[in-house]
Amino acid sequence: MTDHPDHLPVLPVQTIGLLAPRPGETYADATAGLGGHAAAIAPRLAPGGRIVLNDLDGSNLERATERVRAAAGDSVEVLPVHGPFARLPGVLADRGIAADMLLADLGFASNQVDNPNRGFSFKQDGPLDMRLDPSRGESAADLLARIDERELADLIWRYGEERNSRRIAQKLVAARRDAPMTTTSRVAQIVRSAFPPGAARKSRIDPATRTFQALRIAVNDEIGQLEALLDAIGRGAEEQAGPGGWLNRGARVAIISFHSLEDRPVKRAFADLAARGLAERLTRKPITADKAESRRNPRSRSAKLRAIRLADRVE
Ligand SMILES: C[S@@+](CC[C@H](N)C(=O)[O-])C[C@H]1O[C@@H](n2cnc3c(N)ncnc32)[C@H](O)[C@@H]1O
Repeated sequence: MTDHPDHLPVLPVQTIGLLAPRPGETYADATAGLGGHAAAIAPRLAPGGRIVLNDLDGSNLERATERVRAAAGDSVEVLPVHGPFARLPGVLADRGIAADMLLADLGFASNQVDNPNRGFSFKQDGPLDMRLDPSRGESAADLLARIDERELADLIWRYGEERNSRRIAQKLVAARRDAPMTTTSRVAQIVRSAFPPGAARKSRIDPATRTFQALRIAVNDEIGQLEALLDAIGRGAEEQAGPGGWLNRGARVAIISFHSLEDRPVKRAFADLAARGLAERLTRKPITADKAESRRNPRSRSAKLRAIRLADRVE
């Protein structure tokens, strides 16, 4: 199977440099996606290493597993885990696995956003779905059908950092009285109508961008998932492969985020672990893409990579 032509892992050299994989180690990929990072790491774990691939999206997980198995060779074990990464620490602990490296490359993969049937993009018409795991949970259409106007305005404000949130919520709620919100193009058109004429021409981004981001974050509980993972990393740093621990001593943890709502809690959690002597920060400032990567891979332009190394021993 070929990879999605547009898909390139973000900040691959820097991420692998910080994770510093060694033969025989265990790598946990919380967001396997299309397996780009994991396939590059796999050969470095041979002989005898292990890779745990986690993703909410069952079809991406299958593709990543196939790709990473091909890259890993026979001596590296590859274990797929389907589900939200907030549950990954528990899955690892239950199986008696402690990771030496953890990567979370947040958000969506290019093949998800480019597929109109997944409903992530306002650029193409499609069903208003937005679930990273389309097999369960509430779609964006279901969410928009039940939420009240005030709650919707708060959601667009909080997760989209959208100043026009009240007017957008008002327009969406008024429009759903005429007909349910079931397509991306209808929602995008209603959101755009909440802006003064000419706003789209003045701004570099489409007026629907922030509202779509907010709906996607809400549908997938993205901030709740990230907070849960950060809490588990904190607990892992305290336990460090004691009974029930899921991260080994000296484990390297890297997180790539794509907007400030994600980067802020990562920065705070890593600084807190460093202040408590439980980890060393490997990045004082987040690492960002250089010009060449930004040109090659537009998605890398907003990426911020932060990493820590857990202490070798907790006194
Ligand atoms: C940016 S892509 C990862 C790309 C991957 N690093 C690569 O090189 O191919 C993000 C992936 O994370 C998955 N994802 C996002 N949130 C998740 C969550 N809470 N739990 C599990 N997977 C999640 C998405 O389904 C998507 O496949």
